Amino acid sequence: MLEPLPHTNVLRELEVSLTHRCTLACGECGFFVRQQPVPHKGVAHVAITEGLDQLLRLGLVVQRLVIVGGEPTLARETLSEVCRYASACEGIRELELVTNGLSPDRVDARLLHQVDRLVISEYLDGPELLDTWRAWVEMVAPETEVIGRRHATWDQWTGDACVEADKALEFWRSCWYRKHCITLERGCLFSCSRIAKLGRDHEGLQLKEVVSLDDVREWLNADRALPSCMTCIPMMGLPRVPAGVQPDERLERLAPRALHILKKRLERSCLK
Ligand SMILES: C[S@@+](CC[C@H](N)C(=O)[O-])C[C@H]1O[C@@H](n2cnc3c(N)ncnc32)[C@H](O)[C@@H]1O
Ligand code: SF4
Ligand code: SF4
Repeated sequence: MLEPLPHTNVLRELEVSLTHRCTLACGECGFFVRQQPVPHKGVAHVAITEGLDQLLRLGLVVQRLVIVGGEPTLARETLSEVCRYASACEGIRELELVTNGLSPDRVDARLLHQVDRLVISEYLDGPELLDTWRAWVEMVAPETEVIGRRHATWDQWTGDACVEADKALEFWRSCWYRKHCITLERGCLFSCSRIAKLGRDHEGLQLKEVVSLDDVREWLNADRALPSCMTCIPMMGLPRVPAGVQPDERLERLAPRALHILKKRLERSCLK
């Protein structure tokens, strides 16, 4: 692994956001939804596949490419193109799609065949939505693993606190996000999604300046904090916040629709 085992060419996880838009508006969303910048310049799937191409040409292998958003299923064409590209790419070993599960009409069996893991983030009280997704995926794409991800609390994400440089270096050295949330966005490689979502492109590695895998390795493994680490609220050990809280009734509105679509599909699959 490039990090924390610097002598191989394998990156454990790489995240790409397909869109900044979302059907939900979770308080303390770790991707700053509503404020997050547009993740790609120009046509999103072209920018994403070009960026991935650049990295793979250096000899980098991505163990798991994680597709996120906003809500990635909202960007239907981008999702389709990126999944087609990634599933055919030798340098990308696994493809994971992370979704709030509320737009099943935007996910079809053909897409699922290209995805190794479908992660449904659970924001509803009961297991019904996840169970129905699982039942449908088992029928139409049994090779795709379905994982539910439910957290009662999240790391706090917003706030104005600031630490000294030596503390920021401590954050950097022990940072979980730096190991799991390396992000490709706007032609830059970011050490974590937080810096990408803050739009601090000057703190990312500009891919056009990269000539070798060593450039990437040195960037990711450097023993120095970035300026954003000094204000890194999620690393400050603050009280955790309730996960997935909405400002209005949108979850209650969207969930029955999603369930209805999935149940109809299940019925149709059972009849075949
Ligand atoms: C930002 S979302 C993007 C994909 C999709 N919209 C979703 O919610 O699954 C990716 C993952 O980050 C998690 N997440 C969001 N905010 C978080 C926070 N403040 N702390 C920890 N995890 C968070 C979500 O639950 C979700 O599983
Ligand atoms: S569903 Fe919630 S956590 Fe996921 S991107 Fe939207 S606002 Fe953020
Ligand atoms: S900004 Fe925070 S999450 Fe990002 S690398 Fe620094 S310490 Fe880690």
